Amino acid sequence: MRWLGVLLLVVAPACFSSLLRAQTAPSRLDDPIIEQRITKLLAQMTLEEKIAQTVHFADSSTGPGSPHTDYREQTAEGHVGSFENITGAAETNALQKLAVEKSRLHIPLVFALDVIHGYRTVFPVPLAMASTWDPSLVEQASRIAAKEASSEGIRWTFSPMVDIARDARWGRMVEGAGEDPYLGSAMAAAYVRGYQGARLDDPQSILACVKHFVGYGAAEAGRDYNSVEISEHTLRQIYLPPFHAAVEAGAGSLMSAFNSLNGIPATSNWFTLTHILRQEWKFPGVVISDYGSVAEAIPHGIAIDGKTAARKAILAGLDVDLEGNMYSRYLADLVRTGAVPEAAVDQAARRMLRIKFALGLFDHPYTAEPASSGKPQLDPAHVEFARTVAERSFVLLKNGENVGKSPLPLGPDVHTIALIGPLADSAPDMLGPWRARGNAADVVTLRTALTSRVQAGGGQLLYAKGTEILTAEDNGFAEAVAAAKQSDVILMALGEDPQWMSAEAASRAHLGLPGNQQQLLEAVAATGRPVVLIVFSGRPLSLTWAAIHVPAILQAWFPGVQAGPALVGTLFGDVSPSGKLTVSMPRSVGQEPLYYDHLNTGRPADGIDLTRPPRNDVEKYHSRYVDEPNAPLFPFGYGLSYTKFTYSPLELSASQLSARGLNDKTQPPLHVSATVRNAGSRAGEETVELYIRLRGTSIALPVKQLEGFRKLALAPGESKRVEFTLGRDELSFWNIDMQNTVEPAAATVWIGPSSTEGETADFIIEQ
Ligand code: BGC
Repeated sequence: MRWLGVLLLVVAPACFSSLLRAQTAPSRLDDPIIEQRITKLLAQMTLEEKIAQTVHFADSSTGPGSPHTDYREQTAEGHVGSFENITGAAETNALQKLAVEKSRLHIPLVFALDVIHGYRTVFPVPLAMASTWDPSLVEQASRIAAKEASSEGIRWTFSPMVDIARDARWGRMVEGAGEDPYLGSAMAAAYVRGYQGARLDDPQSILACVKHFVGYGAAEAGRDYNSVEISEHTLRQIYLPPFHAAVEAGAGSLMSAFNSLNGIPATSNWFTLTHILRQEWKFPGVVISDYGSVAEAIPHGIAIDGKTAARKAILAGLDVDLEGNMYSRYLADLVRTGAVPEAAVDQAARRMLRIKFALGLFDHPYTAEPASSGKPQLDPAHVEFARTVAERSFVLLKNGENVGKSPLPLGPDVHTIALIGPLADSAPDMLGPWRARGNAADVVTLRTALTSRVQAGGGQLLYAKGTEILTAEDNGFAEAVAAAKQSDVILMALGEDPQWMSAEAASRAHLGLPGNQQQLLEAVAATGRPVVLIVFSGRPLSLTWAAIHVPAILQAWFPGVQAGPALVGTLFGDVSPSGKLTVSMPRSVGQEPLYYDHLNTGRPADGIDLTRPPRNDVEKYHSRYVDEPNAPLFPFGYGLSYTKFTYSPLELSASQLSARGLNDKTQPPLHVSATVRNAGSRAGEETVELYIRLRGTSIALPVKQLEGFRKLALAPGESKRVEFTLGRDELSFWNIDMQNTVEPAAATVWIGPSSTEGETADFIIEQ
C-alpha cells in the first residue's frame, strides 16, 4: 500500500505527474550493449584490476596522516576505481588523465561528493525541502545541483538520504524527508529524477546514491550509529519503501548503513543487500559501503580481523569499500585461498563498470574546463530558485492564537523592529550541514535582507545578538532587552548549530533551544512586546514554553543561500507560508520516538484527559504518560497559512470494495473527493492530505497513514475539487504472511490539512 497509483484530477501544480513519471525514467543500467562491453573488458582484467573497481578513496589529501599520499601513483597503476572529495574540472581531469592514459586498461575514474542540498547554490536542508510537500521543487533543486556539480567533475552524489526518521534526537533527521514512508518515497524518487535527469550519460547528470540501506534512522535512543532492531514487517512496511521507490525511479547506486540491523551490520547483511535488493527488486546498480564500514564489522563483533570483515561484506553483496581499505588489502588473498569465489569480485567489478559506462565515462571521461580562471559566479536563476524553495519550506506553527492578535504578516503599523538572536546574522549557519561547495559569502542573512526592507520602508531596525548558540554567558541579554523595549515587534532568530547539533554524529539528549537561548527568549518576551520566534534547526525542537507564551512561531530550518530574502518576504506577507511538518514536533524529549502513524495498542488513551495525572484507575490503565500528553506539540502534516482553508464533506464513489478484485485488478479503485476553499482574504497554497486506516486485518496497522497529497494554489474565495483514487497500491500492505496484499477490512479515509484534522468517511473492503 505505498506510493504509486494516486490519481488526482484537479488543475493545480502537478506534483504527482512527475511522481508517476518516476517509473519510466530511462536508465542505461540494463543496456545489452553496455553488458557486452563489460564482459569483454572483464575478460582482459587481472584479479587485482577487478578488485581496483571495488576500491574507493575518500581521503586523497597528501597531508600527514592521509592513508593515500600516493593516490596519483595508485591511479596510474590502476589500483583505484573511484574518488570522493576531489572537485574542480582541472583537478578531476588531471587525475582522470592518469587513469585513462597511464593505467593498463584505461578505465576511467568516477568522482563522488556528498551533494546533499545543492552544490554551490545551497538550497534548504532536505528536511526543509520535504516540508514543501512538493516533489517537483525537489526534483528541480536536484537538477540544479547536478548541473553545478557535474561542471566541476562530480558525476556521483551520495544523496538522497531516504532514511525514515522518527526520533528527533537523531541528528541526521535533517538529511531526510522525515517520518513518513509515503512522502519519503515521493521525495526519494524526485531526487533521483533530478540528479540523473533524462539520461545518465548527459554530461550534466550525476548518479544518485540512495542511503543508508537500511534502518539507520531507527538508531536505538536516537544515538547515531547505534544498533537497530526492526521486525521484517516494519522493515517492509515503513523503512524499505523509500529505497524501493528510488530504485524504481532508476537510482544507479545505494549506500549501506553503519548500523547493525537485528544483529547483523548493514554492510554485511545478505538479507537486505542480496535477498531484498537483488533478488526481489532486481537492482542493477552498485552498492557502496558507508565510510569505513566494512572494517566496522570488527567493533560490531561479527569479525575479529579485517580479512573476515572483507569476506563477510563481499559475500553479502557489498560491491565497493568506501575507505575501509579492507577489499584492497584482503580480497585478492581471499580469492586465491578459495574463501571468496572470484565470481563475487567479478560481479562487484561489473556493477561498478556498469555505472561508469552508463554515465558515459568510457567515451567522455573529462569535464569541460572553464575558459576563465577564478571562482565561477552563482547563477542568478539558481539563486532565485533557492529563494522559492526556502519560502515554501517554512512552517508557520503559530500565529496569534491565545496571545493577542496575529503578529504576522508584519503590517504597515510596524515601524521599529528588534532583531535578536545568534542566528539572525550568521551566514555559515544558514547553509546547514553538508554544504558541498557552498560559500558563506553567498548567503544573504536575515539581518542583511531585513535592513534593506526596513530602510526602504522608512522604518528602524535594532539588532542585538543577545547570546551565542551554545553558551552560558548572558552579558548580551541587557542589550537585547533594551532593543526589545523600544520596538513594535521583536523577531527572535534562535536555534541550533548545524555542524555540531544537527548532522552526522550530532544526536541530542535534550531537544530544547540550546545554551541559554530559552532564557534569552523568556527575558525578551517579558518586555511584553510581541515576539515572532524564528527557529533555525535540523530537527523539530521541543518548543512547549514558546507555544504557550510567544504569539508567533515560524520554523525556518536551515534555509540556504537565500535565507534572508525568503524570510523577509514571508514575514512581510509577500508570500504566505505553505510548508507543513514532515516530522512530529515533541512536547518533551521523553515522547521520542514520536510519529503519527503509530499502532493503536490494546489500551489507547482516547477520551482520557492527558493534560493532568490520572486521578483514578479508569484514567490510569491506558497507554499514556502520567506527566505529559501523548500528542505532539504540533503534529505531522501541520502548518498554518496567512489565509484559511475549509474542507467540504467527502464524496466516495462506492461504500464497498472487494479485496480479491483489488488484488487481481478487476475491482475499479475507489474515488474519494472533497472541495477545498480559500475562505480568507489572501491567496495561499494548501497541501491537501489523504489518510486511511484499516481495521480487522491480519496484522495491526497504524491509526492513520498517509496515502496521498496534493498542493492547491487558491485565490481568496476560490474553491477547487480534489479527487484521489484508492486502489491496490494504497490499500495493500505487508500482511501476517509477509505478502503485499489487500485484505478484507473496515476502512476509514480522511482528507484534511494535517494528520489530526480533516473530513472523514468509512467504507468496507469485503472478501
Ligand atoms: C556518511 C555518509 C556519507 C559518507 C561520505 C559518511 O560518514 O555517513 O552519509 O555519504 O560519509 O563519505
